[in-house]
Amino acid sequence: MIQKYRFGCPFETEAVTETVPCTGTYDRHEQESAAGGLDGIPYFSMSEDGREFSCPLEDGDAVYGLGENVRGINKRGWKYVSSCIDGSRHLESRHSLYGAHNFFVVDGHRRFGVFVDAAQKVEFDLGYTDRRRLSVKVEEDGFVLYILENDSVREIVREFRRMIGRSYIPPRWAFGYCQSRWGYKSAEDIEEVVRRHREDHVPLDSVCMDIDYMERYKDFTVDSRRFPDFAEFVRKMRKEHIHLVPIIDAGVKVEEGYPVYEEGVEKGYFCKREDGSDFVCGVWPGRVHFPDVLNPKAREWFGGWYHVLLDQGIEGFWNDMNEPAIFYTEDHLEEVFDKLEAYRGTNIGIDEFFDWQKTAESVDNYPDDYKKFYHQSPAGRIRHDKVHNLFGYNMTRAAGEAFERLEPDKRILIYSRSSYIGMHRYGGIWMGDNHSWWSHILLNLQMLPGLNMCGFLYTGADLGGFGEDTTEDLLIRWLELGIFTPLMRNHSAMGTRRQEYYQFGDTETFRNVIGLRYGLLPYLYSEFMKAALADDMMFLPLAFVYPEDPEAAGVEDQLMAGESMMIAPVYRQNASGRYVYLPEEMKLYRLRSVDDMDEEVLHAGHHYVKAELNEVLVFIRPDHLVPMSRGGEWEAGTDSSRLRLLHFVKDQAVYDLYNDDGYSRKVDLEQSLTRITVERDGTVRTEGAEAPECRLI
Ligand code: GLC
Repeated sequence: MIQKYRFGCPFETEAVTETVPCTGTYDRHEQESAAGGLDGIPYFSMSEDGREFSCPLEDGDAVYGLGENVRGINKRGWKYVSSCIDGSRHLESRHSLYGAHNFFVVDGHRRFGVFVDAAQKVEFDLGYTDRRRLSVKVEEDGFVLYILENDSVREIVREFRRMIGRSYIPPRWAFGYCQSRWGYKSAEDIEEVVRRHREDHVPLDSVCMDIDYMERYKDFTVDSRRFPDFAEFVRKMRKEHIHLVPIIDAGVKVEEGYPVYEEGVEKGYFCKREDGSDFVCGVWPGRVHFPDVLNPKAREWFGGWYHVLLDQGIEGFWNDMNEPAIFYTEDHLEEVFDKLEAYRGTNIGIDEFFDWQKTAESVDNYPDDYKKFYHQSPAGRIRHDKVHNLFGYNMTRAAGEAFERLEPDKRILIYSRSSYIGMHRYGGIWMGDNHSWWSHILLNLQMLPGLNMCGFLYTGADLGGFGEDTTEDLLIRWLELGIFTPLMRNHSAMGTRRQEYYQFGDTETFRNVIGLRYGLLPYLYSEFMKAALADDMMFLPLAFVYPEDPEAAGVEDQLMAGESMMIAPVYRQNASGRYVYLPEEMKLYRLRSVDDMDEEVLHAGHHYVKAELNEVLVFIRPDHLVPMSRGGEWEAGTDSSRLRLLHFVKDQAVYDLYNDDGYSRKVDLEQSLTRITVERDGTVRTEGAEAPECRLI
């Protein structure tokens, strides 16, 4: 059951696609309320001004959701703030990251879901101020509160997901391995990456092109000195079965003669200052304007520019810096210069020093800068800070809507850094600028279920870590989690240690681990498609699958990955195994490659399980199957016609394998299913069009 309450006059975010009747409305100014007013809202007591609502938390209540955020799978105990930010240090002390994902579920004595559909800043105090209280505060009037009730947490999530529309589905090749680095400067650099992978038979499907490919960081341009015939280069790479995935940034460089800039100015499609002039700030290219993606016409116009790269054979993109990140505005820089200058030659004491330091550090992403520009939205002119969380969403929506027009039959890959719920229909997200820290492997795992709850299925972290220097063992362990995430991308920052597998010695392990991803693709792709088409999750906390098991709720470093499997990666330095909790009897496969593994049935309960650096742990549930191919060196080159089954059959196991063409937008679950049945005696049967040949491992 869904209840919907409207407060004041909300900005229409278009996060929700289903029509949900309003249960009650409240308008502070008119002092008028309907359907029982604020007292009629279940679970919560409301503040007088209708901007803060809170409820008690009982011992044992867990709070799941809130998408991209730090800390545990169960979010209870910390305060989160939805305010999209370019925040590169994903420390436990952070309250916000790049996305605003305002959906959570309270699971315990009562089970209910809450979605706060608000374009402005929202604070979620989940037992931080008071361990026994949950409160939500919306910065300004104008939001919609949805409350969803069901006995099952998973069903609450499904109901929510139905309400917000089907998640984005990328092309199948986007499930292949991607090598990326900020710093591949030319066609030769990229060719070298591809050559090494192919020579060593380490699978690879795509290479990301970071800002270095552009001409002076201008969107929709390619530097012709570094890429003399870009279309030809794209073709050449496609012959090697490689997709190039260029980055697009939010800021459009201010430069006479640059058509995106000139056209945007002429049509009035950039965000404006209060006086009507185009807002200027500094990002990679120096001075930029932001496309006004909240204006449908400007959105259509900006999206249209992707054709420049599509026309040259590009089939995938990543959208960046779209919180939007601001390095500086000239106004604020002036204030900073003045203030710092005033300290010159003075005797700087402790207070002055701290003030000096704070001032100097205030330059980028300065909150007041977000109050200096406006959007021309369908609801009229609105100041940016009031709709801040919708920018990245609408930039990616610009691309997604354009792809539907420009490539009506073909799926185009797109993922974004910033997002709001609703964007999950247009693209995926990556988890932003993490670090080469062991703790960030765990953070990667812990973010997955919350993101799935909010509709973001196509997601993954920068494997190996973006910031700072990686090590070989860290990269291997991280890849051993990354082989399960839909986006599997090794990406790192300029200036850090290079982290392509061939920078290290153990090529065989890298080949085998990445090879396992390709072996598992039939399962992972099927599970992704089933989750997308049934508005379900692909990665679930154990508590969602074993609600009756109190121990499952405390497991913070294992996940259910699809219907058949539990994963428990090793994420500690020098560990050659780990403790694992099994809510029921399962079969452990210890995978070293698609051909080399051992297996063991483990009873329910706690175990210490060995996992050397080259070993991946997979736990199969009773009466479940995981179909595996022998892998391949690129997605389209994997042979899916002959599959082997990881299995744990006690009575009978039935698995529905999803096998479509992987490219067309039209997806039909029924049409593309093969049903694989394994009986207790080991008999294997398949039904469905083009059923692969299957045998037990
Ligand atoms: C941002 C992105 C990162 C990218 C860099 C340069 O930090 O998050 O992935 O490499 O910008 O474009």
